[in-house]
Amino acid sequence: MIKVIITPDAHTLAIAASQFIAGRLLRRPNLVLGLATGGTVIDLYSELVRRYKAGEIDFNHVTTFNLDEYVGLPPYHPQSYQTFMFKHLFSHINIPRSHIHLLNGMAQDTKRECRDYETAIAATGGIDLQILGIGRNGHIAFNEPGAKRNSRTRKVRLSDDTIAANGDGRFFKNSNVVPHEALSMGIETIMEAREILLLATGSGKSLAIKRALQEPPSDDLPASFLQTHPACTFILDREASSLLNNQQVTFEIISHERIRA
Ligand code: GLP
Repeated sequence: MIKVIITPDAHTLAIAASQFIAGRLLRRPNLVLGLATGGTVIDLYSELVRRYKAGEIDFNHVTTFNLDEYVGLPPYHPQSYQTFMFKHLFSHINIPRSHIHLLNGMAQDTKRECRDYETAIAATGGIDLQILGIGRNGHIAFNEPGAKRNSRTRKVRLSDDTIAANGDGRFFKNSNVVPHEALSMGIETIMEAREILLLATGSGKSLAIKRALQEPPSDDLPASFLQTHPACTFILDREASSLLNNQQVTFEIISHERIRA
């Protein structure tokens, strides 16, 4: 059953999520971490950087795999996920460059790029903790509605809703300049992580969160497949949790205090 932690606001959520990750890192310094991009994780990454600078955590032995990358954007393009990751996290911590794995959206042979990515994940022994955001249509990584439960890393088409969400001025100026394709870990790849932490803030995510937790798993809403994962936690702010029906027991609310456990 998915564990749910509800925090009052997005700032507290970032602190709670960084505490969760710091706990796992202290237990396992060579953690293999799956990482997400998007507005939701920006504050989380600043909190992780703050903890690193305060000497609380160390990334020297950590390995990372990012979930996805836009097809056709060079790695140093201002809107590439590689640029995002260096800007918000990697440039500020002591992770060795060779431990960072990002999909190459410019790869000529995308099938090979995706196959090599899966091989690299397997070679580390698999992802210990996968961080996820969620699209307002319930996507995880770029697994859009309709993505299969057994999908692996591959080239995908972005839905119109995702193109609109990512072209709203926060990242791309408008939807006309958002790439239509991406390379993305598949649902099966994500589900193989030993533990999953999904973060969601704001009322725009509340319907996707309700459906992910309270509707039967289906490819209509990819995040709903997480219900079948053995160790999945959602950290939500109050707005993202606002449509949950507490009478319908499909998840377990745990207190913030249990993050350390
Ligand atoms: C993007 C990413 C996802 C992310 C989602 C939510 O399209 N591919 O991995 O979870 O959108 O983004 P945001 O946090 O900006 O709402």
